[in-house]
Amino acid sequence: MANKNNYVSKDKLGKNISKKEIKVKTKEDNELKEKKEIKEKNTSAKNVILSIKNASYRYSDAEEDDYALKNVSFDFECGKLYAIRGRSGTGKTTLLSLISGLEKCTEGEIIFAGKSLKDMNLDKYRNSDIGIVFQSYNLLPFMTASENIILSMDANGLKIKSKKEKAIELMEKVGLKASYANRKVLRLSGGEQQRVAIARSLSYNPKMIIADEPTGNLDKQTESEILEIFKKLAHEENKCVIIVTHSQNVCDTVDKIYDLKKVKDVN
Ligand SMILES: Nc1ncnc2c1ncn2[C@@H]1O[C@H](COP(=O)(O)OP(=O)(O)OP(=O)(O)O)[C@@H](O)[C@H]1O
Ligand SMILES: [Mg+2]
Repeated sequence: MANKNNYVSKDKLGKNISKKEIKVKTKEDNELKEKKEIKEKNTSAKNVILSIKNASYRYSDAEEDDYALKNVSFDFECGKLYAIRGRSGTGKTTLLSLISGLEKCTEGEIIFAGKSLKDMNLDKYRNSDIGIVFQSYNLLPFMTASENIILSMDANGLKIKSKKEKAIELMEKVGLKASYANRKVLRLSGGEQQRVAIARSLSYNPKMIIADEPTGNLDKQTESEILEIFKKLAHEENKCVIIVTHSQNVCDTVDKIYDLKKVKDVN
């Protein structure tokens, strides 16, 4: 009888287990869980490449309490693909300007690889640590695809023998044929221009890539192809990729979504 023998349950193999054994097992399980949580916490902390800590931003011409961003705290890790989502005017582009060091937080700070952006040479940071992909591509239309990429290598001071070869290699990586290298940007489709813009952002092999609505002007099929490139960069090349987006397709693809709300709605 169960009570007489103090057996209260059975294990997976059907063997009787006593109250005492259950207690020991639960303690062991809890200890194991705790260890696992500590391990995950440490691993994740090590992987964080960029941390936004209580960042607020007010444009210089705005009223004293008119913040474009208020108390934003997000962490980004290498090897992951992120979406920053929010309605128009919630400060997505402003946040990318802070992350890319084009603007400085009014309050709070941004830490990149353990160092505050406040203490860094921001030109160097922008030219080597992060790659930026703009919604409007920001390519020079009368130059060829490869010239646009090489221009970015030059701005970075990259010293390699054949920049053209490297540019073609990057173009092929984002799904553009080598023959497109000599074509003027003006003669490329929107999707092709976006690929050139991504290839350009990779020209100095940055740890982080940030993209402002990179698929905003593209059809669904092209969007999925571009997303696949970003996904590979994160998962196969261990880059941290941040995409500002309105697109559900993007949100369904990323590893983590951060939502921005209008400052007025938060307060
Ligand atoms: N240069 C500026 N000077 C003053 N206010 C600005 C400036 N740029 C943006 N803002 C304001 O900051 C807020 C956030 O703008 P932001 O462009 O970051 O939004 P967004 O989320 O990127 O919007 P969208 O989805 O429309 O691109 C808005 O209220 C906007 O009017
Ligand atoms: Mg915007």
